Amino acid sequence: MAEITTLEEKLAEVTGLARAAKDLSEKVAGMVEEDDEGIASQLRRMSEEAAETDERCSAIIDQREGKKTAILEKAQETKSEASEMADTYLGDDADGLDGLEFMTMAEAGEVGHWAILGKLNEKAGESEIAELVEWALPIQERHFSEVKEGSLALAGEEDPDSES
Ligand SMILES: [Fe+2]
Repeated sequence: MAEITTLEEKLAEVTGLARAAKDLSEKVAGMVEEDDEGIASQLRRMSEEAAETDERCSAIIDQREGKKTAILEKAQETKSEASEMADTYLGDDADGLDGLEFMTMAEAGEVGHWAILGKLNEKAGESEIAELVEWALPIQERHFSEVKEGSLALAGEEDPDSES
């Protein structure tokens, strides 16, 4: 297996996180739709944007001759780890608020990883990666604030004294 660079490793990680986020946002949309259809539709749009993020990342990975397989393998590993974490956190008794809380962690993680990829690329200077980060980072920042706002909206409707 070809050795991959730190930059390629981070590219793989954002790709894997996007793949996991696509499934996670769809799942959480299903968990909140009875509470709030507006938040559910935001989550479905996030899922579509995650799919587009995966496509754009994969197009760049595709061009890396000789490294492609190793990078995609790393992306898959990140996706599996993130999905396992989601499954562990969101067991059968998880409700919509639990789903949105987990998504605030996941989206914050994506924001951090994209910022790190951008920072590493300041030295590497690859224009395609620079353009990708410029496109993706504001989207991830919006995802983070939307899930945070969504969590607070649902929390505001909860009865703090009810049995959990
Ligand atoms: Fe996201």
